[in-house]
Amino acid sequence: MIKTLEWTEEGVMMIDQRLLPTEEVYPVFKNYLEVAFAIKEMVVRGAPAIGVAAAMGVALGVRDAAADTPEKLDGIFDHICEVLAATRPTAVNLFWGIERMRGLYQKLRSENKSLNEIRAALIDEAKLVHKEDIEANRSMGRFGADLIPDGATVLTHCNAGALATAGYGTALGVIRAAVEAGKKVAVYADETRPFLQGARLTAWELHKDQIPVTLITDNMAGHFMKLGKIDCVVVGADRIASNGDAANKIGTYSVAVLAKENNLPFYVAAPISTLDLNIETGEQIPIEERSELEVSHIKGIQLSPDGISIANPAFDVTPNRYISAIITEKGIARPPFKESLKKLAEG
Ligand code: MRU
Repeated sequence: MIKTLEWTEEGVMMIDQRLLPTEEVYPVFKNYLEVAFAIKEMVVRGAPAIGVAAAMGVALGVRDAAADTPEKLDGIFDHICEVLAATRPTAVNLFWGIERMRGLYQKLRSENKSLNEIRAALIDEAKLVHKEDIEANRSMGRFGADLIPDGATVLTHCNAGALATAGYGTALGVIRAAVEAGKKVAVYADETRPFLQGARLTAWELHKDQIPVTLITDNMAGHFMKLGKIDCVVVGADRIASNGDAANKIGTYSVAVLAKENNLPFYVAAPISTLDLNIETGEQIPIEERSELEVSHIKGIQLSPDGISIANPAFDVTPNRYISAIITEKGIARPPFKESLKKLAEG
């Protein structure tokens, strides 16, 4: 099984996703500042994985805090959370992970727990967040597998696999579960410019699991849909608004429009922690803008002239009208999503 990130005595061990697929290296991030760096620089990426990393970062920060009383920890705790929350703006799981740790911290403080008790409980909680994410993915997989016909070819965009979660994956979890249920499934993976999560990570994972994968560049998706080579699309999400609008890796929106044009089901697989029921529509989702260098260069090789204007939004929002269903660990939501998502979240 792929180990995306893991709590160790020394700190959080993560596979360095920037180096895949050519190097498989597992550095340890020893304090919360190093974990924040790992999230920002995309050593670890993918919405659920950064939620788990943030929870572990909070636990590390509290473990190491220079406080000799719980009262002195309060200000430090807030600072740790602020630093981790400032790493990436779009995936709501980051904030979910931090808020889950804050909720426990506040409870422990109100119960007058000792410093040692607080430290130990937060470490246990971070480990639990990790474990629960894998369980959620497996459950999502069981629900989602029913939507994948035997013999299907599934198109996916970016990486919503084991590497984007604590393990197993959301979109790739659905594909893995369909394969485990005995179905024959093949995958077309969009390379996902500019960061190439599809080429570097999705192709790596699926190939490792011996699930047939064909790598295509992003602009080939429509062509293969039109030729009848694709049966459905399954992607992950970074934040889903109350009405079902879903933010995911840049390029997902184009894939969704192409799927509709070609009468193909378009599924989003995401845990309940990716729902942001505080916002009505996708227009309220903050979109991260990343470095121009990710577009102008690949591995240090310059592709474009100096001095030109470059845009690099890391995510786009797919309006709910393009989404056939949202697969969660609690079941499948169908349109109208406002009602179905609320029901699942409350259930
Ligand atoms: O910028 P990234 O690599 O963190 O973006 C990841 C995605 O967009 C994934 O599709 C999403 O987080 C779902 S992961 C289960």
